[in-house]
Order: sequence, then C-alpha cells, then structure tokens
Amino acid sequence: MSKKKSMAIDFQDNMILLTRKYLKRKILCPETKFRHHAKERQNVLELLKRTVEAGESNSALLIGPRGSGKTTLVNSVLKELSVSKSFKENALIVNLHGLVHTDDRLALKDATRQMQLENVVGDKVFGTFAENLTFLLECLKSGDKKRTKPCIFILDEFDLFCAHQNQTLLYNLFDVAQSSQAPICVLGITCRLDVIELLEKRVKSRFSHRQIFLFPGENSVGEQPTTAFDDRLELFKDLLSIPDDENVNRIEETYEDCTIDPQFGAMWNDYVESLINNVTMVNLLKRMYQIDVSERSFRNFLGVAVGTLDEKHQRLEVNDFVEASKMFTRDDKVAMLEGLSVLEMSLIIAMKHETEIYDGEPLNFETVFNRYVKFANQTSSIQTVQRPVIMKAFEHIKNLELLAPVNATARTEKEYQYFKFLLTPQQVLEAVKNYVGLPTEIAQWATNSLQ
Ligand SMILES: Nc1ncnc2c1ncn2[C@@H]1O[C@H](COP(=O)(O)OP(=O)(O)OP(=O)(O)O)[C@@H](O)[C@H]1O
Ligand SMILES: [Mg+2]
Repeated sequence: MSKKKSMAIDFQDNMILLTRKYLKRKILCPETKFRHHAKERQNVLELLKRTVEAGESNSALLIGPRGSGKTTLVNSVLKELSVSKSFKENALIVNLHGLVHTDDRLALKDATRQMQLENVVGDKVFGTFAENLTFLLECLKSGDKKRTKPCIFILDEFDLFCAHQNQTLLYNLFDVAQSSQAPICVLGITCRLDVIELLEKRVKSRFSHRQIFLFPGENSVGEQPTTAFDDRLELFKDLLSIPDDENVNRIEETYEDCTIDPQFGAMWNDYVESLINNVTMVNLLKRMYQIDVSERSFRNFLGVAVGTLDEKHQRLEVNDFVEASKMFTRDDKVAMLEGLSVLEMSLIIAMKHETEIYDGEPLNFETVFNRYVKFANQTSSIQTVQRPVIMKAFEHIKNLELLAPVNATARTEKEYQYFKFLLTPQQVLEAVKNYVGLPTEIAQWATNSLQ
C-alpha cells in the first residue's frame, strides 16, 4: 500500500474514533442545556432568583414523569444563575437526594457539610432536629450585616423524603420557609403526581402549594408549534451531528480532546440528514416513540447505535439502529421467560401446545402435566422429574402472572383449577429462540405443535 493511501486510511480511522467519542459524550453526558417548557423553567428561575436577590422565602414542587427533564431543568437554571457573580457568592445551594439521604439524620449531616458548617457545629449536641436546623441557618448570618445568606434546598426524589419518620426535615424546612425566618427556597423534585397527598397535615399546611408540572411532548404557549414527533426527529439529527464549520469555533471545553476535521464533519452531517429522510429509519423512530416517549431511553438507544462505530464499521446504517432498538422495544414477558429454568420453560411449551390444540380454552395442572410427561417419556435425553417438583414449577409460572385463574372457587383442588394462558405462541417461540442452553429437543418440541 502506498504511504499516501495508508495515511488517508489512518486519517479516516482516526476521525471515526473521534466522532464516536464526541457523539457518545454528547448523547450520554448531556450538558445542562434545556429545551422547551420555557414557562416552567422561567417559573423556577424566578423563584430561585427572588430568594437570592430579594431575600424572599419560597417552597415549590416540580412534578413530572420519569425522564421528563426535571433534574435537567433545575441544573440548567442553576447553571444560568451561577453566571452572576452575586448569586455565586451569596447563595448557598444544598442538594439532597431521596435515594442517597435515606433518613433525616443523614440529610442534615450532608446539608451541614454542603453549607460548610461542619467546624461550627463540631461536637455540639442539639435537643431537637429543629434546634439543629435553626442553628445551621443562624450560622449563615454574615457578620455585621446580620443578613442571613440565602439558601436553596433542592430535594430530588422528594417523595422519598415523605417516608422519613415524622417528616421532620420537611416540616422544619417548610416551616422556616413559611415563617420567613431566613431567606430559603425549598424545591422538591418528584415524579409522583399525588405527592401532596403524601404530606402529613401539619407539613402540608406549611407548604406553599406552588406546583410546577412538566409533561413531555407539551410545548409551552408561545413556542413554535411542532408536533412532538417532529421534535424527536430534530433531536435525532441534532444529537448525531458533529461540528462542521471551520469559521465558528464551536468546540466547547467538554469536547476539547475530540476536534474533528470540518470537512469530515460536513460529510458526516450530510449523511445524518439523509438518514432522517429514510422511510425505514423514520418508521423505526416513530414506533419507538409510540412505545416510550422518554428522552432518556432515546438517548440510551442512540448511545448503543453509536457504540457500534469503529475502524471496520465506519457508518451508521439503518440496520444498526434497528439492531440497537431491539434492546429498547423488548417484550417484557419474553424477557421474563429467559430467567426460567429448563423445566419451567418446558411447561410453558406444554401450555402453548394445550392452548393451541384446544383453541384458547383454559388449562389446568393435570393437562399440562400429562402433556409434559408424554413428551419427556418419548425423549431419551430428558430426565424424569417428580410430580411435586413439576407442581412447584407450575406454581412459579402462576406467580409470575403468566397464568390467570378462571372461575376460581376455594373448593377446587389446585391440580384441577383452570387457568388462561397469557402468552401468545409467538412470544413463547421468541423466548425459546433467545433462551441460551435450552436442549435442542425441547426447542424443537416448541415448534412442533402436533406433540
Ligand atoms: N427538555 C429537555 N431538554 C434537554 N434535555 C432533556 C429534556 N427532557 C429530557 N431531557 C434529557 O432526558 C434525560 C432525562 O432527563 P432528567 O434526568 O432531567 O429527567 P428527570 O425528569 O429528572 O427523570 P427522573 O424522574 O427519572 O429523575 C436527560 O438525558 C436529559 O438530558
Ligand atoms: Mg431526576
């Protein structure tokens, strides 16, 4: 190979690896840029601003389904605010998370650390939680000005704090906020729509009842009217594009180590553009969007597809996306079957046959047992198992809710209790196909409906 040619290949390989690095970072470690919901974002921004600038006290809840961007919204607001010098110097931000701070003691300890008051608190012993918290807030009074530093408490997975004993932390935080003892903003983030109902009466009465809702796919008034799916297509293009303009130095700090040749970038972006004009691609994205609107799983899906890029695989074909999507559009029931034992899987196959032969009629343990034993006796490689073991396997399948009882009465013996089989033959066949290590004879039995 000529030297020139080999250099060209090296360059191309290098660009692909850089592209993969850049895209993975862009897709999976999103910057705190926030799109849509301008009104809701503005609401949160104003709230925090008023606490810091005007010394107001506030409390609010930000509510929305999983993956709707709540945490991203708050982070983007904090990022915007922290540009201002006075905010940065003045405001104290305490981040608490329901999954980390599983009781109030832990939460307060970490709040103390984040407020940098560990030394001040030292070994002091407080009578009550409220005294401790008041002491912390008192400490924030800055010297001669006697002005308390504004404090922003962000409680992510807020609903989990409601399970803490007596809701002491919430009670005290809301109490301080309501009585304006100190400029404090308590912002809870949660995916529970019924979160208010989780609050005890005395806590509820101290909450401002300010609730901000985020629903995916809903644009605020005044924004460009786009359909939610158009927005998804736009995001697809945006997330897969790389910088391609020589004149504009758009590479941000986070991406400093993956500077991509602009000419290569332009070609890559043209190709991405052609992807969103591909009917198969658009249909795939549409189908995925119908199953799950969450941006989080969409980003994970793109991450998987981008992960397939390397020196030998230099382009993202539609098929790569189809393969990647399989991981995200999997049938939960089929996935569940992969965790069953070989005996349980055999019973599932027996159930499939029973249901097919008797045209969807309900089945009971006896019929499934007989069908299985008949098969096992004909097949030399299958060990015979005791009836109680088979019963146990049957019960496990029942407990997984793959069988629904029909006309159950307390008097029916469990062997004769009728059930409706809740899997389709296709689901069983797919699970058989995916099951690693299933003996060939059993796999063949699944496809042979005459046995
Ligand atoms: N409006 C948006 N703007 C920018 N990114 C968004 C937006 N909505 C969702 N995302 C992206 O979706 C992913 C999930 O967002 P985020 O973690 O903020 O959701 P969440 O509402 O906090 O979910 P959870 O309830 O599970 O904590 C992130 O990668 C984020 O970048
Ligand atoms: Mg979150």
